[in-house]
Amino acid sequence: MNAYYLTTPIFYVNAQPHLGHAYSTVVADAVCRYQRLLGKDVRFQTGTDEHGDKIVHAAADAEVSVKEYVDKISAMFKAAWPGLAIVPDTFVRTTDPAHMAVVQDILQQVYDRGDIYFSEYTGLYCKGCEQFLTEKELVNGKCPDHLTEPERISEQNYFFRMSKYQEWLIDHISKNPEFITPERYRNEVLSFLKEPLEDLCISRPTTRLTWGIPLPFDSRFVTYVWFDALINYLSGLGYPAGENFARYWPAAEHVIAKDILKPHAIYWPTMLKAMGLEPYKKLHVHGYWNMNETKMSKSLGNVVRPGELVAEFGADSVRYFLLREMSFGLDAGFSHEAMVARHNSDLTNDLGNLFSRSLTMVKNFAASTVPQPGTPSDQDQELAEATLAMLTHYREHLDHFAFHRALAAVWEVISRANKYIVTTQPWELAKEPQQADRLGTVLYTLLETLRLITLTLHPIMPETAAKMAEALGVAGENNLADCGVWGRLVPGAPITPGPQLFPRLQREEKEKSQPPKAKAMKEPAVAKASAPEIAPEAEGLVTFDAFQKLELRVAEIIAAEKIPKSDRLLKLTVKAPEERTIVAGIAQHYQPEELVGRQVIIVANLKPAKLMGVASHGMVLAAKEGDQLVLSALSGPVAPGSRVA
Ligand code: MSP
Repeated sequence: MNAYYLTTPIFYVNAQPHLGHAYSTVVADAVCRYQRLLGKDVRFQTGTDEHGDKIVHAAADAEVSVKEYVDKISAMFKAAWPGLAIVPDTFVRTTDPAHMAVVQDILQQVYDRGDIYFSEYTGLYCKGCEQFLTEKELVNGKCPDHLTEPERISEQNYFFRMSKYQEWLIDHISKNPEFITPERYRNEVLSFLKEPLEDLCISRPTTRLTWGIPLPFDSRFVTYVWFDALINYLSGLGYPAGENFARYWPAAEHVIAKDILKPHAIYWPTMLKAMGLEPYKKLHVHGYWNMNETKMSKSLGNVVRPGELVAEFGADSVRYFLLREMSFGLDAGFSHEAMVARHNSDLTNDLGNLFSRSLTMVKNFAASTVPQPGTPSDQDQELAEATLAMLTHYREHLDHFAFHRALAAVWEVISRANKYIVTTQPWELAKEPQQADRLGTVLYTLLETLRLITLTLHPIMPETAAKMAEALGVAGENNLADCGVWGRLVPGAPITPGPQLFPRLQREEKEKSQPPKAKAMKEPAVAKASAPEIAPEAEGLVTFDAFQKLELRVAEIIAAEKIPKSDRLLKLTVKAPEERTIVAGIAQHYQPEELVGRQVIIVANLKPAKLMGVASHGMVLAAKEGDQLVLSALSGPVAPGSRVA
C-alpha cells in the first residue's frame, strides 16, 4: 500500500494559534515530507473546529458575530502555517457546508441503525473541555486541564451507544500494539477501559446552544462538538463518495496531544465501528509544551506565538528546535535561551560551519567542482560507513516519531565530519601537489557526507535542505531509497557555495555584553603572605600575585571568519566555556576554515576592545618566530574554559 494519510487535530477558533498548535502541525508536516521522501502518496490534513459554547463565548467577548469571529480566527490558523513551511493538502473548517452535510449523513445512518437513542443524563460538565467528566478524572474536584470546577447539569439528550463497542475496542487495541503510541497512552486507554464505558451524549438542546450542526432527526438539538469535529477526518476526504476516501482512509493516522486522548482513542474508533468503517491505523500522542512547568495554553495565558519566533529565528530553526527538543510523547519546557542555544550551537556552529568550511575548501582547492576521489583510507571509510549507518537509524527513529533521536543521529555525523576536517587538514594537503589525490578523496568524502545529511534534513528543515541541495548540485534529488547510497556525486560537477545557512544570533543583552567574571582578579591572601622579598621589577620579573591576575583559559574555536577590509584580522567565536568573540591578528597565517575545532589558550580577562568595529573579548596566545606565527595549542583535548596555570 503506497498511500499515507496524516492529520492534526482541528484547532478551536476561540484563540489565535500558539506554539502548542504549531508543534502538532510541524510534526505532521515533517512526517508527511518524510513519507514523501520514502516515495509514498501522501495526504496531509489540518483545519479548524468552529462549533460549540466556547466559540460562542469567545465571539461574545470580542463583541462580533460568531460567523465573523470564526472566519477571522480560522484565517489566522490557515495563514500561520506557511510561515513555518507547513504545507497541508486540505484545510477543513467544520462550518463548511460540505462537512456539515457529512456529519448529518453519519448521524442519520447511526440513528437508523439504532445506535443513537433519546434519554436523560445528569453529569459533571466542563465548559473548557466541552465534555462531561467522570469523578475519577477530576483533580481536587477540578478539571485537570482547565483548573475549573465542572458544573453538575441534567438534560434530555441523544446518546450514542458507545458502551456496545467497549469489548470490541479493548480487543482491537490489544491485538494492534501500534494502534495507540507511545505505549504509555495505550496503557492509559486500556486502563480506562477496565471500567464500564458510559454511552456518549451527542446532542445539545437549542435552548442552550444554537451554534452547531442541527440533528437531522430532531431540530430541537444541535450536535455535540466532538461528534461533529472527529468527522472532519472523513469529510476532508470527501466521504462517503470520492476517490480520496477509498484511497487514503485505509492509511489514516492521527497526531494529537494527550489532552484529547479520550475522544480520539475511545469515541472515534467506536463511532467508526458504528458506521461500519475500519478504524484509523494509528494514533500518535504527544505531550505538552510547558512554560515554567505549566502547560502552555490559551486559557492560562502563557503562550508563545509561532510568528514571533519565526521572525527572530527563521522557520527552519523553529522547526528544528521543536523536533529536537521534545521527546515525542513526553512533556518539554520551552525557553527562549534554549532556542538561542540550539540555534547557535547546533545550527550555526555545527551544521552551518561544516557546510561553509567544506564548500569554501571545494571552492579554493578544487575550483568549485566535485573532485575525483582516489582510494579511500580507513578514516574516509569510517566516515562513509557512519553516514550510511546514520541513514538507517534515522529511518528507524522517524518511523516511530522519535524525531529527537533521528536528529541526534544526524548531528553525530555532523560532529564526526567536523572532526574529520580537523584531522585530515585539507589545507595542508592543498599545499603539496603530490597529495592531490588524497585531497580529492577527502573533499569528495565531505561532499558525499553533506549530500546525505541534506537528504535527511528535507523533512525537518525544508528551506535549508533546499539551499544545501542547490549548492551541492542535487536539487530535486530527494528519494531516500535512490539517493541514500554512497557515491552519487559525479566528479567534475559544479558546486556553488551560497550564503551562510544560519546567521548567528546574539544572546540576551546582559549575557552578551558581560565578559565572564574575573574571579582571579582579587589577590588571594595567601599569595600576599608569601610574596618574594626582592623587588621583582628590578629583575624584569612579575610577582605570583601579578601573574594570578591574568586569567588564562582553554578556548575552543567554533567559528572563524574574515573581517571585511582587514588583511590581518579574523573574527573568532570561541567557547571558553561561554561563547565570546575574539578578534585575532592571524589572517595572514591561518585560513578561517582550518581554525574551527582547534583548542587554543586565551587571555580571558583582557579589557574588551573594538578592532575594525568588532568588539574583542580576550586575546588568543600565539608564538612568533620571524614572520611565522603559530597558535598556542594543548597536547590533548581539554574541556573548554579550563584554567591554564
Ligand atoms: N478542537 C479540538 C480538537 C478536535 S480534533 C477532532 C481541540 N482543539 S485545541 O485548539 O484545544 O487544540 C488541542 C491540540 O492543540 C492538542 O491536542 C495539541 O495538538 C495542540 N496543543 C495545544 N496546546 C498544546 C501544548 N501546550 N503542547 C503541545 N500541544 C498542544 O482540542
